[in-house]
Amino acid sequence: MYAVTGATGQIGGRVARLLAEQRHDLRLVVRDSGRAPHLDGVDVEEATYGDFDAMRAALVGVDVVFLVSATEAEDRVAQHITAVNAAAAAGVRRVVYLSFLGAAADATFTFARDHWATEEHIRTLDGVAWTFLRPCLYLDLLPLWASGSDAAIRGPAGSGRATWVARDDLAAVAVAVLTGDGHDGQTYDVTGAPLSLEEAAAVLGEAAGRDVAYVPETLAEARVSRAPSGAPAWAIEGWVTSYAAIATGEMNVASDTVQRLTGRTPGTLVEYLDSHPDAVEHLRADEPHEGK
Ligand SMILES: NC(=O)c1ccc[n+]([C@@H]2O[C@H](COP(=O)([O-])OP(=O)(O)OC[C@H]3O[C@@H](n4cnc5c(N)ncnc54)[C@H](OP(=O)(O)O)[C@@H]3O)[C@@H](O)[C@H]2O)c1
Repeated sequence: MYAVTGATGQIGGRVARLLAEQRHDLRLVVRDSGRAPHLDGVDVEEATYGDFDAMRAALVGVDVVFLVSATEAEDRVAQHITAVNAAAAAGVRRVVYLSFLGAAADATFTFARDHWATEEHIRTLDGVAWTFLRPCLYLDLLPLWASGSDAAIRGPAGSGRATWVARDDLAAVAVAVLTGDGHDGQTYDVTGAPLSLEEAAAVLGEAAGRDVAYVPETLAEARVSRAPSGAPAWAIEGWVTSYAAIATGEMNVASDTVQRLTGRTPGTLVEYLDSHPDAVEHLRADEPHEGK
């Protein structure tokens, strides 16, 4: 029996659909069953990561869980730890955790430090095998990095590149790891083709039929330009350091994981925009959009 958390979301939803298509025994663990995908013969349980009892009850009888990392929050590591402790208490044998590229205690991207702390905790669990998936930034979100009436990408990324990965490719990797053998104790970088923000702006501009510029900022300028959002300091730090980690090269990691585990060639931004022309609608319509 597989369980997929975060099935109301993008990655969990894709993984759930693929596992259901393959007719695996499957349970979705979601916060609101009313928003769970409708899949024939699939159980749905409600639980939130921070609720140990609900998570344990939702995972009883499950062998392998795909744990989608929680939405960013100040206490996200504590939520993850509660969720994986509940999985262990429920008797789950394997956890496949959706981590992030370059997860480390001193990662420039502050949200990647949460993933490292979660990974470290999972390693300590007795009798639970684990696999960590470490994707780069989602290619699908890249169009939204351009925002404002001038459709610019602004941030302290210097001239660095990131190996953006499409959610479809990541979901296919997750299913291969969940259903295949030999993945226990493995950590996989899940990455696509390298692209700088200047290169991305050119591709987005071509697709939208207008100029899209990359405007490099310093870290200090980036903090100031995000302050009017009213977001808490930890969130702003996460946003700006995602760019800073592009500048340092931490987001530019080559891997053959997608090709090797799925047989797919990782999707590119041009391909993504060909198949999702609406992804640049906010740029075409010249509608202000709140970027990050
Ligand atoms: N690599 C990247 O570029 C990137 C970008 C953004 C986020 N991420 C990370 O990758 C994860 C998956 O991405 P995605 O695109 O699938 O995100 P998504 O569409 O927002 O889905 C997140 C899923 O996780 C569930 N969830 C969030 N916090 C939870 C909690 N505390 N307890 C239980 N369930 C929780 C959500 O439930 P609800 O529907 O109830 O909210 C949703 O089903 C995100 O959650 C985030 O950690 C990565």
